[in-house]
Amino acid sequence: MKIRVGVAGVGHRGLGLARSLAKLEDVELAALADLSPERLEAAAQEFNVDRTFSLISEMLESVKLDAILILTPDLAHHPQTLHSFEAGVHVLVEKPPAYTVAEMEEMAAAAEKAGKHLMVAWNRTYALLRVKALFADEPPEVVLANYVRPEPAYLGLIRNHIVDPLYFLCGEPAEVAAQCDMFSDQREGHTLANIRFQSGAVGSMISSFGSGGHSEQLTAYGNGYSVFIDSTSRGSGKIMRARQVVESLDPVDSSAVQIRHFIDCIKEDKEPLTSGRKAVRIVRFTRDIMDAAGMGIPPLPEGEPGWLLWCMCGDKVMSNVERCPRCGQEWAGWSLPVETIRRT
Ligand SMILES: NC(=O)c1ccc[n+]([C@@H]2O[C@H](COP(=O)([O-])OP(=O)(O)OC[C@H]3O[C@@H](n4cnc5c(N)ncnc54)[C@H](O)[C@@H]3O)[C@@H](O)[C@H]2O)c1
Repeated sequence: MKIRVGVAGVGHRGLGLARSLAKLEDVELAALADLSPERLEAAAQEFNVDRTFSLISEMLESVKLDAILILTPDLAHHPQTLHSFEAGVHVLVEKPPAYTVAEMEEMAAAAEKAGKHLMVAWNRTYALLRVKALFADEPPEVVLANYVRPEPAYLGLIRNHIVDPLYFLCGEPAEVAAQCDMFSDQREGHTLANIRFQSGAVGSMISSFGSGGHSEQLTAYGNGYSVFIDSTSRGSGKIMRARQVVESLDPVDSSAVQIRHFIDCIKEDKEPLTSGRKAVRIVRFTRDIMDAAGMGIPPLPEGEPGWLLWCMCGDKVMSNVERCPRCGQEWAGWSLPVETIRRT
């Protein structure tokens, strides 16, 4: 029997993940929801789906679904995840799942109450399965990770992809020391952290928004191996042992791997690698770094249009715009008032 899935948010990320989903033979893409009628119409045509809705509540009331993908802007994730568990479906939610540990705990508890799976789409974790397997018996001794975007960003550390790979490879942190160089009162520029993990591993991370380009790399040593990952989104790189390259790591489609994992977890009733409970630990770990760095969380911009955003073209920090002024990319979802984004 096919797993019936609804997709909420058919913007930039939604289209990408819906394309991965549509390739799976054991899945039926049964319904779509998006506030934008134009995006909905385009996605309905592309995926040949005739059940389309503005709000996820309408979709969940009208169509019998097993699972939902929540691919809407950041601030929608918490209320929409809670709503979906009330409707009794499994949830895959984009990152960041929540801004606070308390919100994340509520989401994990809602999944347990509903008896459904919650998985966070931290796709870098799913790009690093081979690295994790290499250190399965013994965790790495040292992990160095950087995540560099071209602009300073408001709460960039929460939004980016650096903490989940560190947690995946090294486990629970024991001690965190961090520093932050704020770009302005609400945007961090660079965050540096040194972490000692309970496993004995030590890690260093740099989350930086001040460079001229995008890069995300990871290096791990231990167990006689050195691993050099040149892109944590694709897991590409090499494994060395005794000064020789013993394995080249080809790029993987981490989004497709994570979608497959989500469906398998539903079918086999197993806990996702990035489950709600793991997400509580990762959000807490992120907050530990932010607290150690003395970085506060600014209040949510209630009543304000716009939210934090940098464009994929890598040149501008934007808020309250529908298109990137440089490359023309549409960012419709992000120019909506916060109250609208959080509608279920
Ligand atoms: N894992 C990754 O590599 C990755 C990459 C990019 C974005 N993301 C995440 O994906 C999420 C979506 O980002 P995006 O870039 O696709 O944004 P986007 O603006 O392109 O798409 C968001 C869509 O959600 C719709 N929407 C907004 N509020 C809604 C609501 N209440 N109900 C229904 N639809 C609503 C908008 O109309 C829009 O079409 C964000 O949380 C972002 O952080 C993850």
